[in-house]
Amino acid sequence: MMGIHFDEQKKIFHLSAKDTSYAMEILKENYLVHLYWGKKVQSFGNSNPLQFLDRAFSGNPNKEDRTFSLDTTPQEYPQYGNTDFRKPAFQIQLENGSTITDLRYKSHEIKQGKEKLLGLPATYVEDAKEAETLEILLEDLVAGLEVKLTYTVFADYNVITRSAAIKNVGTENLKILRALSANIDFREADFELIHLPGAWGKERQVERQPLRPGLQGIESARGASSHQHNPFIALARKNTTEDFGEVFAFNLVYSGNFLAQAEVDQFQNTRVTIGINPFDFSWKLGPSETFQTPEVVMTYSDQGLGEMSRTFHELYRNRLCRGTYRDKERPILINNWEATYFDFNAEKIEEIAAAGQELGIELFVLDDGWFGKRDNDTSSLGDWFVHEEKLPNGLKELAERVENCDMQFGLWFEPEMVSVDSDLYRKHPDWCLHVPNRRKSESRNQLILDFSREDVCEEIIKQVSAILSSVPISYVKWDMNRHMTEIGSALLPSDQQRETAHRYMLGLYKVMEEITTAFPHILFESCSGGGGRFDAGILYYMPQTWTSDNTDAISRLKIQYGTSLVYPIVSMGSHVSAVPNHQVHRITSIEMRGDVAMSGNLGYELDLTKLTEEEKEAVKKQTAFYKEHRHLIQFGDFYRLLSPFEGNETAWLFVNKEKTESLVFYFRVLAEPAAPLRSIRLKGLDAKKKYIVENLGQVYGGDELAYVGLSVPHDIQGDFQSYVWHLKEV
Ligand code: DGJ
Repeated sequence: MMGIHFDEQKKIFHLSAKDTSYAMEILKENYLVHLYWGKKVQSFGNSNPLQFLDRAFSGNPNKEDRTFSLDTTPQEYPQYGNTDFRKPAFQIQLENGSTITDLRYKSHEIKQGKEKLLGLPATYVEDAKEAETLEILLEDLVAGLEVKLTYTVFADYNVITRSAAIKNVGTENLKILRALSANIDFREADFELIHLPGAWGKERQVERQPLRPGLQGIESARGASSHQHNPFIALARKNTTEDFGEVFAFNLVYSGNFLAQAEVDQFQNTRVTIGINPFDFSWKLGPSETFQTPEVVMTYSDQGLGEMSRTFHELYRNRLCRGTYRDKERPILINNWEATYFDFNAEKIEEIAAAGQELGIELFVLDDGWFGKRDNDTSSLGDWFVHEEKLPNGLKELAERVENCDMQFGLWFEPEMVSVDSDLYRKHPDWCLHVPNRRKSESRNQLILDFSREDVCEEIIKQVSAILSSVPISYVKWDMNRHMTEIGSALLPSDQQRETAHRYMLGLYKVMEEITTAFPHILFESCSGGGGRFDAGILYYMPQTWTSDNTDAISRLKIQYGTSLVYPIVSMGSHVSAVPNHQVHRITSIEMRGDVAMSGNLGYELDLTKLTEEEKEAVKKQTAFYKEHRHLIQFGDFYRLLSPFEGNETAWLFVNKEKTESLVFYFRVLAEPAAPLRSIRLKGLDAKKKYIVENLGQVYGGDELAYVGLSVPHDIQGDFQSYVWHLKEV
């Protein structure tokens, strides 16, 4: 049973999600403290109450009680300045210059369901019975400040979401210096920290290391969630594996600068905080104004990382992603980027589309280069009208030619950017992010439009909508190819310049909301130089993300494995591309490339007109196979079997909800002398069911497949090999 219970006598809140409990107490002089987060308990009696003793150099807010210090107390939303020396969750500055607050519990409310977060992406419910929400109001009478902490528990997920809203209820201006979304003070430090660092072409690599005393964490100050770090951290027990053990995971539903950190203090407690990066951030909060932080999704699993991921996948597929395509099978696409780069014309496009149709592909995506005068990356971003020299008969005619090949038509945009060589920039040089008297650093020859401005957002909505409503477009790829520098806005006063990066995100979310709502039939896929903005914030608007610009099958094993820790398989765009691969120059077979790409949202990104007959046959087989099984892959449960971060082999499987069908993918990177003869033990099947392994024509019990396993055929030889088993209940 899910629910939120408040014990009036003990002043304890007990929140329960599916199999999770969370407890807090209103303590001493109305401080809100953290008691527990973990496996569900039926009722919370406080068997392990906080203990108080006088500890040296931990000061006491109340001199009458030397045993009470905020420095030694686990808190829900810790603050700065009165006896807690650890990093606070938030901080504000008053007009008198002081940066200290003293928030205490004021009141609370328990509500059915879950309300929308104003202007920000968040998980949602479709029926109020799916969740319960607790709002706790804290106040600081001196500052004229109220902070509302919001907690939602879900009936069907081991998930608690949190956010904070900071309200100025006084008469003077406040300045927010730090406003993180959530804080948890664990009363222990025996954890390992898991996170997903990376780089362009190498996104979301899995890292795991024991916590050590002091601060450790990850952040982005690049104006995007970034390739370099993902807004996800988890604390796992030392013995936690894929299938066993506890893990506490945090994922921020936000696409801009973030901070996620763990601080192990002198008494071996661990403070985890996550939210908007306080670095170069501040927010002016006038009387009666409210600042809403993004949401953090907190997942608890006592069945290892696999269960953690399945919880995220399920929640994000069903209650974060929205729109027509949320529950719809996704089309197989062909994208012309690696096929032609900027060098194409309508005839070439039509040829590729026609070849795609013959091979069973369903959607053609015209990438960069169709607009303005764009023949390379030095011009035209911001001029979203057709490149007349390249496409003299216009975009509509081209879309129709593609549709005549029985293919849907999709189009690339990079709406947040402007080239210095563009009509838009010539007309509005102050519409980009910039700082007076400083040069505007370019990256890929482009500047970033100032989406904190309404006029800029309106113009972009107008331009993009004009194309989307005049051309038959079924799909949009929304790209973003540089990070922010010289972050400043021409419209904001000097004391609000540090709001620019967050205001940009609010503007971007508004633009995405308007465009995706106005064109509900269009499938949107986001992109940022590959997977540089693969986060839950964007998934709220666009249910797919281009996982990485690195399309090499071997590199993709790690990228897709790491991405799968948090994000659903159906959200991962993955393409078969040409060999030698354009990013790493590796040669792998078309079969291996197909098996990796179809472990996500399958697409192709190469010149189909240049395929050999053999390759064409292979592609035909792949598209037919994918169409038959894509429901299982895109909407089934995902189990990781072998990690590419631990060895030469990778394996994962998909199983449908009814557990009647499964696909098992095995990949081996290098051939080795004396290679081990492998078997793979399957997961997620029904032990009581019998399955036919179609490749072998043999029937085995689900229990045998799980405990004894299947042997990997020894005759797959050479480097870069893959093998797929298909199982069906008999
Ligand atoms: C970066 C993207 O990740 C690529 O797929 C491609 O769309 C290029 N931009 C086009 O400029």
